Amino acid sequence: MMQILWNSVVGLPQASTFAADVDWLFDFVFWFSVVGLVGVTAAGLWFMWRYRRSHADPEKTAYIEGHAPSELGVSVFLFVVVMAIFYWGWIDYKTMLEAPPGAMEINVTGRQWAWQFEYPNGRKEATMLTLPKGVPVKLIMGSADVLHSFYVPALRVKQDLVPGAYTSLWFEATQTGEFPILCAEYCGTAHSRMLSTLKIVEPDAYERWHKRWEFAQQFGVAEAQAATLPPASLAEKGKKLFAEKACTACHTVDGSALVGPSLKGMFGSKRLFADGSSVVADENYVRQSLMDPQAKVVKGFQPVMPTQRGLLTDEEINALVAYIKSVK
Ligand code: CUA
Repeated sequence: MMQILWNSVVGLPQASTFAADVDWLFDFVFWFSVVGLVGVTAAGLWFMWRYRRSHADPEKTAYIEGHAPSELGVSVFLFVVVMAIFYWGWIDYKTMLEAPPGAMEINVTGRQWAWQFEYPNGRKEATMLTLPKGVPVKLIMGSADVLHSFYVPALRVKQDLVPGAYTSLWFEATQTGEFPILCAEYCGTAHSRMLSTLKIVEPDAYERWHKRWEFAQQFGVAEAQAATLPPASLAEKGKKLFAEKACTACHTVDGSALVGPSLKGMFGSKRLFADGSSVVADENYVRQSLMDPQAKVVKGFQPVMPTQRGLLTDEEINALVAYIKSVK
C-alpha cells in the first residue's frame, strides 16, 4: 500500500534491472489482496442480510451442512495462487541473490552511524557512493559494531549487515541520478540519520572520476586541486575528513544540536560536563573527545559517541583539530 502510494504520488524511480520485476510481484500480491478483501467483505455482508433472522418467522433458519466441492475448490484455488506467488518470488529472489561473474566489487562497512564505501583502488567515501550505470555491482558488506541494513528504495534492494560476517548484494543501475541510501535496521540513537547518497553516473564519467583521484593520490595533492588550486590547508583537509568520516551525522557546524553538540564556536569555549566539571576546549580536549569520547560528556547529551581510536591517524586528528578551530 505504502509502496503503491509512494510510487504514484512521489514517483519512486525504477532505477535497477530488478525494480520492474519487484514492482510487478508487489502489485500482483497487493491487488490480489485488495480484490480478496473486498470480495470476502461483500460476501459476508450479503450473507448477513440474506440469512438474517426474520420477524415473520423467527425460528426458521435453514441448517447448512457445508459444501465439499466449493470448499475444496476454494482451497485448491488459494493453494495454487500462493504457490504461484512463492514460485514467482523465488525466481526473482534467485536473480537478486547471485551476482553475475565479473561484477564490480565494492566494500561497504556500516558503523554507528555512517556508511563507508571502499573501491578496489583503495578510494574511500562516506557521504556518497558513486557507481556507473549499466554495470553489475556487487557490494560486499560488513558491520563494525551492530546490525545495520543497507537499503536503496529506488533500486528495490535491501540487505542486512552483520558484525563478524560478510553479506552481499548486487544490482545493475539503469538510470543516472542521485538516490537515497538508508539504514533499515534500528541500530541506536542516530539510526535515522545513517544516510548516504547513491550517485549513478555514466561509465565514462565514473572512469574519469577515479582517474582524477588516482592522479591526485599519485602526486600527493587533494583531488579538487589536481588541476589548478593551491594546496589545501590543514583546516580544509579537516573539513573534508569531517564529511568523509560522517561526523556530520551527529555534529553540525551551524550551532544546532543533533545527537552530539554542535562544533560551532566550540574551540576555546568553556565546556560543561554531565558530572559537573568543566574545561576550556583546547587541542587535547578535542583529541580526547575523539579517542575516549566517554571521558568528558557534555551536559545534556548521551554518552553514545563511538571511539575513533584506530580509525584516525595522527595527521587526520591534526586536520580535524584545525577544522574545528576554524568553525567559529
Ligand atoms: Cu544503521 Cu540503523
